[in-house]
Amino acid sequence: MPGFDSELFLSLLARRCGRVDRETVALCTVDSTSSELRRRIATGNAEGTVVVADTQLEGRGRLGRSWQSNIAGNLYLSVAIPLRAPLSDSVPRLPLVAGLAAADALIELAPSLGERLRLKWPNDVLVSGKKLGGILCELLPQRSMAIVGLGLNLRPASFDEQHAPTATSMTDHLEAPLGVEEVAAAFVAGLEAQLAFFCAKPMEALVARWTAWAEPPGRRVRVGEVEGFTAGLDSEGRLRVQTDQGELVSISGGVVEAVSF
Ligand code: BTN
Repeated sequence: MPGFDSELFLSLLARRCGRVDRETVALCTVDSTSSELRRRIATGNAEGTVVVADTQLEGRGRLGRSWQSNIAGNLYLSVAIPLRAPLSDSVPRLPLVAGLAAADALIELAPSLGERLRLKWPNDVLVSGKKLGGILCELLPQRSMAIVGLGLNLRPASFDEQHAPTATSMTDHLEAPLGVEEVAAAFVAGLEAQLAFFCAKPMEALVARWTAWAEPPGRRVRVGEVEGFTAGLDSEGRLRVQTDQGELVSISGGVVEAVSF
């Protein structure tokens, strides 16, 4: 029996979105909720389907990294999002909107996090500078769909050696743990509503809203070959880095590593 209560999730979602008719698949364990959702999309109409699992055996992070997924009570969730035409509007908005939806959900349920809750480009969720969660957006353009996978550390964790210095769990910051179904419902409802809202607006509106959640600019970072100080987002939602040569470079992907200076 999975720990995730699908009925509770659907009733919480219905409170936010009105009546909800959607498939919710709660599993004890799976390779990856995003891989499972991809298989379901391949065999049928999975629009809006949500897959959650108590643990993942092969949780996937951005850029081929793995996502530690062995703590029952953490959130490991993937949702199938239809990409409305034109794709050129929805695709660049999706990662930023996904981060916004995660931050909005968490601040609503845990307002005491206050300004400690921040987003790191493109959509890492940080508390007090440490990573609480991450989002993996994968596009299936042939099906006009995307899979948005959210991993959030909600329960006490012993992180592996590699992640321990930079990772955190919600229980490091709150006295009572958050309900996984509540967080899931707030995220899914917010993601769908905000994507529809921001796809009908110029990119600048989304960039402004995202920036309100962002870590302050002026951090020394390295992204691939580029090193310099962060300088906010450009009008396309790319990260701008001011190099030591005075060049302003826009970054559209990659891992943003902090560099001590
Ligand atoms: C990252 O920060 O690199 C993104 C991590 C995304 C992890 C989530 S957990 C649920 C979904 N299933 C996966 O295999 N990955 C995402």
